[in-house]
Amino acid sequence: MPTVMPIYGTRPEAIKMAPIVIALQESADFDCVVTVTGQHREMLDQVNDLFGIVPDHDLNILQQRQSLSAIMTRTIDGLDKLFTESKPDAVIVQGDTTTSTAAAIAAFYHGIPVVHVEAGLRSGDLMSPFPEEANRKITSQITSLHLAPTSTSKANLLAEGIDGANIVITGNTVIDALLTTVDKHVPFSDPQLEMLANSGRRILLVTTHRRENQGDAMRGMGRALARIADSEPDLAIVLPAHRNPVVREAVLPAIEGKDNVIVTEPLSYGEFTRMLSLSHVVLTDSGGVQEEAPSLGKPVLVMRENTERPEAVDAGTVALIGTDEERIFKEVYRLLHDQEHYDSMANAVNPYGDGLAASRTVAAIAQLLGVGRRTAEFEYSASF
Ligand code: UD1
Ligand code: UDP
Repeated sequence: MPTVMPIYGTRPEAIKMAPIVIALQESADFDCVVTVTGQHREMLDQVNDLFGIVPDHDLNILQQRQSLSAIMTRTIDGLDKLFTESKPDAVIVQGDTTTSTAAAIAAFYHGIPVVHVEAGLRSGDLMSPFPEEANRKITSQITSLHLAPTSTSKANLLAEGIDGANIVITGNTVIDALLTTVDKHVPFSDPQLEMLANSGRRILLVTTHRRENQGDAMRGMGRALARIADSEPDLAIVLPAHRNPVVREAVLPAIEGKDNVIVTEPLSYGEFTRMLSLSHVVLTDSGGVQEEAPSLGKPVLVMRENTERPEAVDAGTVALIGTDEERIFKEVYRLLHDQEHYDSMANAVNPYGDGLAASRTVAAIAQLLGVGRRTAEFEYSASF
């Protein structure tokens, strides 16, 4: 039986890898050995706990205010030792974090085939998102099996000369994770959130963490949120703060002490998806949230200049608004006060998946390793 090794290190990788790990563990065709790098700690463990995943190996690399080079070298070093002791038949990496690229490089150096989940996303700007756009492109060069979430991401890979025979469109496993979690009505551990959930108040849900937004842009976001809080006393702003101290130091000072702003620790995935479904508007620079919120029909304002996820922008549910303070304020104001505009964005669309991405992923890996056949690819239909 072939051994496959999912390797991941951060919250979004864990969320998107969990449905694959569960499907591999349920399959009689594979031995699944889970390795985490620990690039994130609390935010990673939270997800593994929720999905009942106990890693077989943990490199435990996290350092406070870690540098990109430290994540890269500590991951490669840890995996080098692991692969020297025993080699899996394939590794699975997800997305565009430094964990995923470092793991792909370490596997490539050991001659282990790399399966890349969420392959082919491109913003077209090497510096944004930084370093993720570079990470994705590097990983694509050393990948054996490219699992593209959408036809757009497949087209990006073909345009870069990747052989179409090695690309499978699976949909994004984040939709599998979302659909199995969102209806569970997980109770909020913070009593303020449980009260808010029962109050019927409109909620603006905010997340931010992107490296290229740290500094001036994030301070501007904090000021924009403070202005929104002051001008909309009936609105509740919920900000689950990323654990990164650099993010907290930039965003939180402007909003501290505001009655209608609730700053929390990172919410468990169950709590976060429930909060997403309760929200009126979502303001974020996250990749995963851009994929989940459209499924729930929530208008999403993305605080970035570009996106590698154009599908929901094309569908009208996501708008790119950049990071200018005044623009953030005006775009939120417009969604709160212009009902026609709100209704035009609040359409539930699922361009990223149908909840079956993990089973397509496992079937594609089975074909790669000679123990099964690929299944039909994901096709987006506006009527899903
Ligand atoms: C990382 C990924 C980014 C992804 C994001 C998801 C890279 C380069 N960046 O960025 O692509 O979108 O995760 O959130 O791979 N920290 C903790 N505990 C945690 C997590 C973080 O204390 O559980 C703190 C540490 O001080 C750490 C800092 O946050 O040094 C930054 O973490 P890091 O993984 O380097 O960057 P992210 O911004 O989280
Ligand atoms: N998320 C979560 N708790 C939170 C905030 C976000 O579980 O408090 C989830 C969210 O549903 C999404 C993922 O984390 O699936 C996004 O992670 P993040 O924004 O950190 O990374 P990105 O997607 O931008 O790489």
